[in-house]
Amino acid sequence: MTCGIWIAVCFPIAFAIILQYLYNKEDQTSLSLVARMAEGSESNPDSRIEEYKKMNKSAFILGYTGEVGKVLLEEVLKGGTFSRVVAIGRRKVEYKDEIYKNLEQEIVDFDKLEDHAKVFEGIDVGFCCLGTTRGKAGVEGFKRVDYDYVVNSGKMAKAGGCKHFHLVSSQGADKNSFFLYPKTKGLAEEALTNMSFDRLSIYRPGVLMCNRQESRPGEAIFRALVTPIHKAFPGAMSTSTLTAAKAMINCTVLPKDKSVEIFENKAIHRLAGERK
Ligand SMILES: NC(=O)c1ccc[n+]([C@@H]2O[C@H](COP(=O)([O-])OP(=O)(O)OC[C@H]3O[C@@H](n4cnc5c(N)ncnc54)[C@H](OP(=O)(O)O)[C@@H]3O)[C@@H](O)[C@H]2O)c1
Repeated sequence: MTCGIWIAVCFPIAFAIILQYLYNKEDQTSLSLVARMAEGSESNPDSRIEEYKKMNKSAFILGYTGEVGKVLLEEVLKGGTFSRVVAIGRRKVEYKDEIYKNLEQEIVDFDKLEDHAKVFEGIDVGFCCLGTTRGKAGVEGFKRVDYDYVVNSGKMAKAGGCKHFHLVSSQGADKNSFFLYPKTKGLAEEALTNMSFDRLSIYRPGVLMCNRQESRPGEAIFRALVTPIHKAFPGAMSTSTLTAAKAMINCTVLPKDKSVEIFENKAIHRLAGERK
């Protein structure tokens, strides 16, 4: 009985201490770009966005029907960040809202992406939000989407003249991992890094907070458990899809630190302007 009371008291306290630690711990990959934003020496991204718009840049979004991709698409169209936006995917979406009226949609076969080289030609900035799960696609299917499709898209983008490629990867991405998910993400990051884009921005969000339409029961339960933590300690272990989208847009308009930038979960929140 006494032991039970101790566990009931100590466990939440220990958990809260761990969360506080995660919340305050600095990302090892935090960049000076993020640090400059935190200290206020980097100018407000909103004014940078206005300057950027005048440059009439074009962008493509891969995975625009997914949770991150659709929010990103909506944000770039609402904000008018680019003069041309091309959504590249495997299926056409009918949009009713006015903001989508100038959106170009290109339907491609990701297994024969080289047949669609023209789609990528002359587009300045690329956002890759592609991904699937092992549960949905199986091991080989997961590798095909999260590695082959991502890397082949990078190759087509580079050949087409893309200068800045953004990749939504994942927290824990590690090419040497024993586990399929982080290993595949790490290998995709490495392959894109080796392509030598003028600028490659890699985002490693924690749990994605969103209202997912697709049924993923395990992920939904986990997200429900993480929700109070997300509210109390934003950036400790989760990122909303809107935060991820804002971070990608701000990164686009802010000057680069180096050719390959990696934004861990907390840096994504900072880049989005949501915490110091
Ligand atoms: N879920 C998380 O908590 C979490 C955490 C960290 C990182 N991430 C990563 O973040 C990225 C974005 O996640 P998300 O939740 O936004 O993804 P999502 O909602 O599952 O969307 C994935 C996108 O990829 C496309 N796609 C999937 N399989 C495809 C296939 N076989 N052929 C062509 N396109 C395909 C989907 O198109 P359709 O709509 O046509 O299927 C959709 O546009 C992913 O790489 C994911 O691994 C996720």
